[in-house]
Amino acid sequence: MATHAQPEADALSPQALFAPETLSSPFAFYRQMHARGPVAAAPGTPFAFVWSYDLCSEATGRVAEFSNAFGDALAGARATDPEVKAILDTGWPTVDTLLTADPPRHTRFRKLVNLAFSMKRVDAMEDEIRAIATLLLDAMLPAPGETGEAEFVRDFAVPLPVMVIARQIGMADLPVEQVKHWSDAFTDRLGQMISREREIECARAVVAFQHHVKTLIDARRAEPTDDILSDLVHARVEGERPLDEAEIMSILQQLMVAGNETTTSTLAGGLLLLIENPQEQAKLRADPSKIANAVEEMLRLESPTAGMWRMVKQDAEIGGMAVKAGTLLHLRYAAANRDPARYPDPDRFDVERANARTHLAFGRGIHMCIGNMLSRKELLVAFQEILRRMDSIAVAPGAELVWPPNMLLRGLRALPITFRAVG
Ligand code: HEM
Repeated sequence: MATHAQPEADALSPQALFAPETLSSPFAFYRQMHARGPVAAAPGTPFAFVWSYDLCSEATGRVAEFSNAFGDALAGARATDPEVKAILDTGWPTVDTLLTADPPRHTRFRKLVNLAFSMKRVDAMEDEIRAIATLLLDAMLPAPGETGEAEFVRDFAVPLPVMVIARQIGMADLPVEQVKHWSDAFTDRLGQMISREREIECARAVVAFQHHVKTLIDARRAEPTDDILSDLVHARVEGERPLDEAEIMSILQQLMVAGNETTTSTLAGGLLLLIENPQEQAKLRADPSKIANAVEEMLRLESPTAGMWRMVKQDAEIGGMAVKAGTLLHLRYAAANRDPARYPDPDRFDVERANARTHLAFGRGIHMCIGNMLSRKELLVAFQEILRRMDSIAVAPGAELVWPPNMLLRGLRALPITFRAVG
């Protein structure tokens, strides 16, 4: 009957992904989409969707047709809201740098920013990351042998990446809440599911951040320091113009958005996976060398950057689906990472999964996450320390686990836990 068929069709239309309840709990929806095919048009909307591993991967390689310059398309009506614009005008222009730039612009930025994200720098940060993890666990844990409780997101998963990046961009002396407040403002603007009031608040936060960064840039121009911001200020690549102030500010915004919430989500989601899968957790306790692969499996299942946009530049075809110029192609990395054709029993958390590291949680191709080595290091060190110093970890009785709806980023809001301190 038509009355019955209608809700059914709505629930299975690809744009049903953006319903808040689906965004919060999308895995059954992904299974349905995989069963229907690797791609899906959404007639009557500007969107088209790519679900499969192979085609998400393919799309990231077709940069001439599928552009990352989607910033303006998503800014929509609010970009012209006079009040928001007036606030933003008191700061520096937001420049499309890494994530939202195409070659050759992107190539220049990537070359310059790569200098600040070398493996050498990330390796040199390991001790600092461990010191921060230790500091946070010291504050969270009672004496060895005693039981304790904590809100893991607030007490560990938020401050760890914020403190690591804050130190690297010269903001270590600011309260964590201040840095997080700025970071949240950028994230909320990107997610776009916010009220006009929040948009105005975010614009104010962006401008305050920019003015603060200006003083940090000036200080590093006068005297270089041993951190990522100084590397950006002094980055020189033969034949390329150095980064200017507005460019550096835009890059820092991206580092904070891309680096903080995503790593927080993987820490929280990863711990929940360990709690829910005690046998897998036991394997890591028996052989901590398996933690590195477990981190890959956490990234695969959590996929905190659940999807990313591509703007179709010219009429094209992908996976047999015609996409017109101007279509916003949504690459759903989180669905690709649970593609049964790539990962047998895809919803299972298997710390020994042989191909876990092939996941698309960091994307692929020229826009592949520039911070992937850094966040992998943070996650590795964090779970080494957590498993070394805590056991009997459980979700606190009565805790309600909430994943706020966001089109691009998915992560637990809070994770109340109980545990026993062991070290
Ligand atoms: C678990 C943590 C992280 C996840 C899941 C993640 C995910 C991603 C993904 C999926 C992309 C590619 C977007 C696309 O396809 O267009 C990306 C790009 C990017 N990420 Fe990450 N990221 C993480 C951590 C970080 C960290 C720690 C930083 C830096 C501090 C960072 C900085 C960036 C930047 C700047 C880009 C844009 C690169 C470009 O377009 O060339 N991310 N990230």
